[in-house]
Amino acid sequence: MKLPVSGRATVTAVVAAATLFATGSIAGAAPAPEAGALAAAPDIPVANVKAHLAQLQSIATANGGNRAHGRTGYKASLDYVKAKLDAAGYTTVIQQFTSSGRTGYNLVADWPGGDTGRVVMAGSHLDSVTAGAGINDNGSGSAAVLEAALAVSRAGYQPAKHLRFAWWGAEELGMVGSRYYVNNLSAANRARISGYLNFDMIGSPNPGYFVYDDDPAIEKTFKDYFTGLGVPTEIETEGDGRSDHAPFKNAGVPVGGLFSGADYLKTAAQAAKWGGTAGRAFDRCYHSSCDTTANIDDTALDRNADALAYAVWTLSS
Ligand code: TRP
Ligand code: CA
Ligand code: ZN
Repeated sequence: MKLPVSGRATVTAVVAAATLFATGSIAGAAPAPEAGALAAAPDIPVANVKAHLAQLQSIATANGGNRAHGRTGYKASLDYVKAKLDAAGYTTVIQQFTSSGRTGYNLVADWPGGDTGRVVMAGSHLDSVTAGAGINDNGSGSAAVLEAALAVSRAGYQPAKHLRFAWWGAEELGMVGSRYYVNNLSAANRARISGYLNFDMIGSPNPGYFVYDDDPAIEKTFKDYFTGLGVPTEIETEGDGRSDHAPFKNAGVPVGGLFSGADYLKTAAQAAKWGGTAGRAFDRCYHSSCDTTANIDDTALDRNADALAYAVWTLSS
């Protein structure tokens, strides 16, 4: 892996921490919480992310085939995510709003601790379209953000900055939930957000590896991770501003994110560097009934979930 600028210091710190654990901890005990700047990001188990996707699929199947705004499958999805976070020690809040005559919900989860004057947020939309279960769009982002949040809890991570995770309602109606959240933040609380990271469609079955080119420091963090994997990335251009980072960006919050492609076609050059099928959409099931658990590339989901965790750890330390 290519070392970032701070690579040598990080390696030294990890060795020092490992030595401490070897001499000072009881075998089998949970690792002691590390000081923020010294903690290494975990490898997110893709099986855990897929287990959340299987649950979201079951919820859709039991609720008329979708998890759309204003439908029972949306609220059931929200309740599933909230229960996991509550059990892991998060402080959760459901924010209610109305759109198209139906009640919608955002879920916001704060990890206790850190400097609340410097908040790092990661979020994803949890609603699907009515046509299907929305497993790539956007079960993938929702499940990966959830698993990163649970990894924070498992690690007992205590970063220097404050961590907040969010699941948005009614994105498919025009980013309604995320805009509602941003519009209802006080100017002071908006200014406390040092970065918002967005994850919308990160397991596309014919994947590309796209990084938003908004805030340069956030962009570099994601690119460093993929460079370390030896996976080339491109700048995200498939409809800039077409997801929940847009309201944050418009309010002056630094934003970034990852995307594996929707209904644009993969070019021959892209297939040459990423594999997959040229001349075919990144996601042929975009906004369709076939956006099920079969509509996921496990490798893309795994890499993007790991990159998400790396960015959350790195940017909050
Ligand atoms: N937000 C879109 C949806 O949910 C998908 C999408 C299209 C997208 N272009 C994007 C997401 C660019 C992130 C970035 O339907
Ligand atoms: Ca992983
Ligand atoms: Zn969508």
